[in-house]
Amino acid sequence: MITSGHRGREIETAAHDVLIFGTGLAGLRAAVEIARRSKDTINIGLVSKVQIQRPHSVCAEGGTAAVLREEDGDNLNLHSWDTVKGSDFLADQDVVDRFVETSPKEILQLDQWGMPWSRRPDGRIQQRPFGGHSFPRATMAADKTGFFEVQALYDTLMQYRNFSRYDEFFATSILVEDGEFRGLAGIFMPTGKFMVLRAKAMLIASGGLGTLYAFTTYSQTVSGDGQALAYRAGLHLEDPEFLQFHPTGLVPSGILMTEACRGEGGYLRNSEGKRLMETYASKFMELAPRDIVSRSEMTEILEGRGFPGPGGLDYVHLDLTHLGAEKINHALPLIREVCMKFLALDPILTPIPVRPVAHYSMGGIEADINGATAMRGVWAAGEVACHSLHGANRLGCNSTAECLVWGGITGEEIVKYLQSDPPLPKLPADAVDAEWERIFVGLCGRKGGEDPYAIKKELRELMDRFAGVYRDAEGMAEGLKKVLALKKRFAGVSVMDKSGIYNTNLVNVLEIENLLDLAEVILTAAMARQESRGAHSRRDFKTRDDDNWLKHTLAGYTKGGPVLSYKPVAITNWKPVERKY
Ligand code: FUM
Repeated sequence: MITSGHRGREIETAAHDVLIFGTGLAGLRAAVEIARRSKDTINIGLVSKVQIQRPHSVCAEGGTAAVLREEDGDNLNLHSWDTVKGSDFLADQDVVDRFVETSPKEILQLDQWGMPWSRRPDGRIQQRPFGGHSFPRATMAADKTGFFEVQALYDTLMQYRNFSRYDEFFATSILVEDGEFRGLAGIFMPTGKFMVLRAKAMLIASGGLGTLYAFTTYSQTVSGDGQALAYRAGLHLEDPEFLQFHPTGLVPSGILMTEACRGEGGYLRNSEGKRLMETYASKFMELAPRDIVSRSEMTEILEGRGFPGPGGLDYVHLDLTHLGAEKINHALPLIREVCMKFLALDPILTPIPVRPVAHYSMGGIEADINGATAMRGVWAAGEVACHSLHGANRLGCNSTAECLVWGGITGEEIVKYLQSDPPLPKLPADAVDAEWERIFVGLCGRKGGEDPYAIKKELRELMDRFAGVYRDAEGMAEGLKKVLALKKRFAGVSVMDKSGIYNTNLVNVLEIENLLDLAEVILTAAMARQESRGAHSRRDFKTRDDDNWLKHTLAGYTKGGPVLSYKPVAITNWKPVERKY
């Protein structure tokens, strides 16, 4: 690492062959792939906003989807079909095929790397049913699957040596010169120093954007930094209007009550004690896809068949009481622990209060089937990316699988790219200056009186209200108007904490800036899409409109706001039909 007086400023710089921006499941999987394929000859910079073992991926609970039981009746084609139908036909079908073919290999690979998959009595890897899947293919480690996957990948990576860790590094911008990738700028929080990391290549794997909503399953660290930085650097955000609401967020905290509760046989009941899914999806019942179950719950609540909850968080019941202690303790121990610790409620005895909760972003940085973005040398994988795998609605357990699959694919692609010996870019002096000025002069020097935390609270509440399970033109227009007003107010925000080390006030302000940009993109794209498809459900355009809207949205950055364009969906196997469950 070099500390230099760059044009009179103290800036630390370092250089690597490749940066991995985000070290959750996708980033760690890519790092392992790069290290093993290159025999540890490629130098990796691992950039993580949190400590490397604490990415949001550890919160993944229910499982990882893969076809492992062809002899019992599952097959790749069926997994593809379930995913395409679940996506409301917006998934690119060539991408889906590649995904389902690769996912089983990832499960077995992780098994060899020490992943403690749950086992059946015959010793084989255990799988359970999950929503929208017509075969039990959620490969599980009790209800702590993501935690163990991160641990297994981290342990595997530790066998290699050629990497540097930047834990608690808050990335502020992707450095670009003449349209070419140059590196990543950010604040190293333990010292408060501004740092520039140069590299020949970068993988963006920084996760989702879910703290844009107040009622959310996401860790508070998940603020869409990768999406916002890529968008401002000139990359498209694809399909941003498709935000998944998981049907079972614990009321009032929003903590994920895994779909595995229903996979293991749990029921959803309304205030009349009725299994509410009988009305909406009589075949799949509680295991219909998430968009359908979340809409069903909201309809019950809005029509007065929910239970009154705190702060307007009315809810329905997730009833596990018929499953018995043995099953719950074996397959859902985390769920029981969380309910007991957060609500003093034992799900063996008492139903759990739940309602739809912001959980996953189907959209993300536009990336091709290999994870390549439109910027040479930059790839994207995991939730931050949109490979067009999930379309308008993701099936449960397809996201941890996606992280593993595209972590592996992008790792391989990056090794190939680096073998072509691209040059290490020079320090992009003007871009570095501009970024320094933006943060340390512009933002830190402001004397406005606006409270950033008040802006964030209002933003999250308006997203819950106007960009939730159900939407309409009037509400979204009001939401967008409010977002633009908040952006104006943001120009008057001050960073009150003037210290360097762990200046979370400064980081929070930068996060809020990211969230504001993303809210504008989501609402703009959602208003434009005049149909209901998957998780985008409009009261004023109630049906899917394949004639006009069987296409992906692309949102590009301009100073005046997002500009939308569209691109076709790859339909290789199945023409769209009505979804019935
Ligand atoms: O319900 C869950 O365990 C979540 C899984 C997922 O989002 O894939």
